[in-house]
Amino acid sequence: MIIEKNRFIEQLINEMTLDEKIGQLNQVGTSIYGGKEDEYEQLIRESCIGSILSVKQIQKCNRLQKIAVEETRLGIPLLFAEDVIHGFRTIFPIPLAESCSWNPSLAEESAAIAAAEAASAGIHWTFAPMIDVSRDGRWGRIAESFGEDNLLNERFGVAKITGFQGTREQNAYMSQDKLIACAKHFIGYSAAEGGRDYNTVDMSSYRLANVYLSPFLEAIKAGVPTVMTAFNALNGIPATLNKKTLIDILRNKLNFNGLLVTDWNALHETITHGYSPNEAYAAKKAMDVQVDVDMSSRVYISNLKTLVLNGELEEDQINQAVKRVLELKCDLGLFEQPYRSNEAHALQVCSKKTHRTIARKIAKESIVLLQNENHILPLQLGKENILLIGPFINDKQSMRDTWSCDGRVDDYVTVAQGFAEAGVPQSMSIDDQIYSAFIKNRCLNTTQIEEIRSTNKIIMVLGEKASESGEAKSKASLELEHDQINFLQQIYQLNPHIVIVLMNGRPLALKNVVSCCEGLVEAWHLGVEAGHAIVDVLTGKYNPSGKLTVSFPRTTGQVPLYYNHFNTGRPFSEEKFNTSKYIDESIEPLFPFGYGLSYTHFDYHDLAVMEQDQDTHLISVQITNSGPMAGTEIVQLYSRQLIGSYVRPVNELKCFKRVFLKPQEKQNVTFVIKNKDLSYFDDNLSEIMDHGVFQIRVGKNSRHGLQTQITI
Ligand code: BGC
Repeated sequence: MIIEKNRFIEQLINEMTLDEKIGQLNQVGTSIYGGKEDEYEQLIRESCIGSILSVKQIQKCNRLQKIAVEETRLGIPLLFAEDVIHGFRTIFPIPLAESCSWNPSLAEESAAIAAAEAASAGIHWTFAPMIDVSRDGRWGRIAESFGEDNLLNERFGVAKITGFQGTREQNAYMSQDKLIACAKHFIGYSAAEGGRDYNTVDMSSYRLANVYLSPFLEAIKAGVPTVMTAFNALNGIPATLNKKTLIDILRNKLNFNGLLVTDWNALHETITHGYSPNEAYAAKKAMDVQVDVDMSSRVYISNLKTLVLNGELEEDQINQAVKRVLELKCDLGLFEQPYRSNEAHALQVCSKKTHRTIARKIAKESIVLLQNENHILPLQLGKENILLIGPFINDKQSMRDTWSCDGRVDDYVTVAQGFAEAGVPQSMSIDDQIYSAFIKNRCLNTTQIEEIRSTNKIIMVLGEKASESGEAKSKASLELEHDQINFLQQIYQLNPHIVIVLMNGRPLALKNVVSCCEGLVEAWHLGVEAGHAIVDVLTGKYNPSGKLTVSFPRTTGQVPLYYNHFNTGRPFSEEKFNTSKYIDESIEPLFPFGYGLSYTHFDYHDLAVMEQDQDTHLISVQITNSGPMAGTEIVQLYSRQLIGSYVRPVNELKCFKRVFLKPQEKQNVTFVIKNKDLSYFDDNLSEIMDHGVFQIRVGKNSRHGLQTQITI
């Protein structure tokens, strides 16, 4: 089979002219919607386009495909690409939210549904998952990430890839309802200085290897066939032309032999970076670092031919890149079946009710309960007076998230709608006027004051519009906007029994918020089923189980703030003067990584280590549900290497397990740690296993837990 494929591709390449080959390396983008369709159709006819980004309709895809297949000399089919990040028509929680479920199998499920829907609409290739470890909430694309920890980015990245592509046994993306995945962005993009998108990144090889690379390593092991380069410059060289990262690391150390695509216009931007003097230079350099496809900058299509004709570039370099493009087309079965879907199929797949049922399940598991004083939650609907207010209670438009593909505003369920469907009792009022009136008049009127005073509990939905996170949405302040804080403070003076539901796409600095409420629910941007899932949690129909995958700072000035930092030579101490601290703020997060409450209570006992052999350590702990409700606990195991050949983090997540327990039920949870799990990379990317003592902590978050140790 493989021999046949190779022979077929080789023969095809032999038949191709240089122009036809270069066309395969040219990807055009969304401007196909800009009234230039005729122009693009002509380019396809001339074999100048190999793949197209963002044509989301099956009729259009098939029409363009027909031109490629029937009106070009060799009939090579097109590849259609799209950013299917967290759903196609059925929009799921943003990846940051989904990671708070600590349940990668859900990510696999949502990716499989997204793949089926997108594939039915003619898409072959998704630019996901984004596995940039994200430690800075100012960076708007943290919403697209799986948080600040590399293990979670590895697990969720692999789950997404499997969901999009299918398992290797299922013959990967050959099947009609699968997509090719793309691991992005290689590399360092999320570490932009100041959290400002596209900004410079400068980092040691040690950090790069141990924090940012491991999700890519796992993605490659899981069979991701494509990788995207990053926009940023890394250590002085644009990531898109960086030989050290693309050749020495990606190709040679991580053994990636798939297709490398640039980010949007990134090749041309190497000129703006002040690195490439002109496009020809960028094209030649990119070929030298084995970048195969040029996304939308047209640098390849305009320059590669001259480079070859002038003898500056070997045609064989182009052949290698073309081979990788054709391999994908072959693996998708496009040469046999260029039209993988049709309108009827797309309609049927995209309207499946079960997709929304799964979206609701995932949304519920993504919610994190951050505060629950006086057991203000769950609500006793019908037994107490409840008032629902705030800017986001009924605003579908503000819920439409970053990269929401073919998601429709009307599909989103708001919190007000969620309550309405659950059956609003007489004792509950939904008032979407109070907030807008307050913003207009800067005060509340007597009727409103009376309404607020006389209710038992207030549910207030605050946060950010979904459009405030995502690409190019960096923020200098992680605090809620002033209007929302003023509103909250005013209401709090009238009635302190407030539950805040937050909708947001990044960790927020909530110091001024936690003191003005009893309940705090982190609901993120949860996709189309948000309102249902939030009401399920508020009413106790679902006992919240999510845990944070990013640290929440007290104030923006603490950022970047992450749990797996180094100790420094002068770690903070109350007693000593010259230690690593702020003089105007604590160094602790407001809510640490791994944190999240439940309506029940889980106790941890009897942490024990049973050495299996020199290489394997069996760690067990007993968990008891000592509270009133059944619930799921996410049990987390962290390690700390006390002395190393390099300084090591004070804490590192090594494993986690989800445990469901009925009230009073107990369970022994065991973890197997292999020595390899405790190894790391030196700055040459060679694996190191230091001998010595490793502290092991098992608990409900990164700050609290039972402690033991193992010696290697
Ligand atoms: C983003 C990529 C995305 C590409 C195509 C870029 O601006 O950085 O993540 O895949 O656009 O839409």
